[in-house]
Amino acid sequence: MTRKIIIDTDPAMGTKGGDPEDCFAIMLAMNSPELEILGITTVQGNVPVERGFSNAKYLVKEFDKDIPVHTGAPGAYDLERNEKRKWLGERKEMEQLTPMLKPEEDELSAPSFIAETCVEHSGDIELVTIGPLTNVAKALDEEPDLSKHIKKITMMAGAAKVPGNVTPAAEFNVWADPESASKVFGAGIDFTLVPLDVCHKTRFSRDQLKSIGENPHPFCQFVNESVEPWLKINPNHNIIDQGLHLYDSLAMALCFAPELAEFKKAYVTVETKGQYTDGETVCEFNESIMGQIFKPKHNAEVALDIDVEGFNKLFEERVLNYLINL
Ligand code: RIB
Ligand code: CA
Repeated sequence: MTRKIIIDTDPAMGTKGGDPEDCFAIMLAMNSPELEILGITTVQGNVPVERGFSNAKYLVKEFDKDIPVHTGAPGAYDLERNEKRKWLGERKEMEQLTPMLKPEEDELSAPSFIAETCVEHSGDIELVTIGPLTNVAKALDEEPDLSKHIKKITMMAGAAKVPGNVTPAAEFNVWADPESASKVFGAGIDFTLVPLDVCHKTRFSRDQLKSIGENPHPFCQFVNESVEPWLKINPNHNIIDQGLHLYDSLAMALCFAPELAEFKKAYVTVETKGQYTDGETVCEFNESIMGQIFKPKHNAEVALDIDVEGFNKLFEERVLNYLINL
């Protein structure tokens, strides 16, 4: 039986200098018979939301898929937070490779699309979130009973036992909008957290990019042109030398192939008031002293280890080889 999913994403492949990796995750989903994609919703994160929307539409068109794309509004969930993260919605200097598209009237509300689709297919839809959680938090506001209708969320978010990647404490998707993450984590929906701990075990190497770039197919040239600057601008030398992490592709894979990871139950919360730690995900595995005393009920399954070879094989078969053989 296929899993019906909605992908919530901040796709930057098509905007030079943005993290292009969400689009590999979407390609993986589009090439996976285990999944039926009911829609893609875009959120502000790696790139301003209007660029993410245009990049998602381009990908869907190139793959000749009939998948609706809906954009979220610019900005974070909380007004005060929005002031602090305003620059995420600006970044006008980035060079755009895909045509900028104006959403049609019925493509305008990602939160409404999420809420309405999940109610319509009550208990049958899984969300795969690979960007900040703004759209999902707003969907919960729109439909107060929504948590009862969503089967599960698999999310690339947070850091369980390792430092953050955007601050020492926080991972980007949670840091970009901690209030949304807090609302979603506390909503009573089963969720699987795919944190940096496991994402950092994955790599997309320069050689893999080279093999895509050797195919003259226009889409492969587009992928090459989009990914190359990200590898170059990243100040992290591990990334330059060893390739970029496949954060979002891993989350996508774990949605339909959970056997690739080991999970541990935890009560996951997020820091929204920290002076230095905003967006930190706090995972209580009931191993701390307070955890052993109060035993908070878990709200998540947290991926703590993965079968790297198994994941690489899946990614190579369904994304890399697909592109090389276009
Ligand atoms: O922290 C990793 C996340 O932010 C991923 O979703 C990736 O797209 C990045 O920029
Ligand atoms: Ca992402």
